[in-house]
Amino acid sequence: MSQLVASTPGHLKGIKIVVVGAGSVGVTTAYALLLSGLAAEIVLIDIDKQRAEGEVMDLNHAAHFAQARVVAGEYEDCAGAAAVIITAGVNQKPGQTRLDLVKTNYALFADVVPRIAKSAPDTILIVATNPVDVLTHAAYKLSGFPVERVIGSGTAMDTTRFRHELSKEFGVNPRNVHAVIIGEHGDSQLPVWSLASIVGMRLKDFAAQKGIEYRQDAMDACARRTKEAAYEIIRRKGKTNYGVASVLVSILEPIITDGDALMTVSRVGNYGGVEDVALSMPCKLNRTGAHIDVPLLLDTSEQEALRKSALSIKEVIDSV
Ligand SMILES: NC(=O)c1ccc[n+]([C@@H]2O[C@H](COP(=O)([O-])OP(=O)(O)OC[C@H]3O[C@@H](n4cnc5c(N)ncnc54)[C@H](O)[C@@H]3O)[C@@H](O)[C@H]2O)c1
Repeated sequence: MSQLVASTPGHLKGIKIVVVGAGSVGVTTAYALLLSGLAAEIVLIDIDKQRAEGEVMDLNHAAHFAQARVVAGEYEDCAGAAAVIITAGVNQKPGQTRLDLVKTNYALFADVVPRIAKSAPDTILIVATNPVDVLTHAAYKLSGFPVERVIGSGTAMDTTRFRHELSKEFGVNPRNVHAVIIGEHGDSQLPVWSLASIVGMRLKDFAAQKGIEYRQDAMDACARRTKEAAYEIIRRKGKTNYGVASVLVSILEPIITDGDALMTVSRVGNYGGVEDVALSMPCKLNRTGAHIDVPLLLDTSEQEALRKSALSIKEVIDSV
């Protein structure tokens, strides 16, 4: 393990988080995690050891202000980690099919996940690598962990983007918008309009009370911008990193603090009559993982859209 170490705050002693992949998503997550104060020790693992060491050197200069220990490590260093976040993998390149991407990243998971599981049999795996639902399913199979201990970031990112879009539309803080995106972190995702609300009022009622016009085309545009956000960001800057890093830390927080927070994350289960598939539904997150306590009450069209989403993910899972 690297000797690049900063001081450790006593009250957080013992909380170790491993980030696999010191690329754009991995290091931004490590940085957000460092500033959050949730971890006493952050281990960064990358196949490119020099890259990981360079990032650790830089992060330790930030650790000077945030007081955590950041080290470059190996898979053996996953031992004792409260969670291991997997961000390693390739991004889709021009001309590359989704299936090609799946095959490359599945091969990476087949190498890496059993090594993590061997060193840290009690940890919680959090998957960010895309296609995240397919790889959450792969991580579940490859680790042999119980289903609740393998979590994909899933539509937690899309739900955040959706709330951001609706908050602008209705002129309120995103935290006051209760609306979720479920299903695939990808093209077949669906907004749950039937349950969307602001301070307990359906969106139509909120608009009426506020004296503004409720326009379905404006709502559809919010959902479309949510779905296309990653494409739009990647078209301009070539990657996305800040949003996903913040979402990963927000998934970690209730796990570390046993917070019972409800978030839309990806998990293996049976959805819409499709068995053994991973997709996002609201899950209760706590120190034992992600739990589906209360099934979401969907209307008929949403149930059908969820089934379609599950089938499209299942098709890719079956192809690898
Ligand atoms: N879930 C989400 O919301 C979300 C958002 C953005 C990106 N992503 C995904 O995250 C992944 C990483 O994206 P990025 O922008 O950080 O890519 P990146 O190219 O910047 O970083 C990937 C890193 O993985 C490392 N790596 C490759 N093979 C490895 C292996 N076998 N073991 C350990 N490390 C290995 C590389 O050396 C590199 O440092 C991609 O699959 C991307 O699609 C997901």
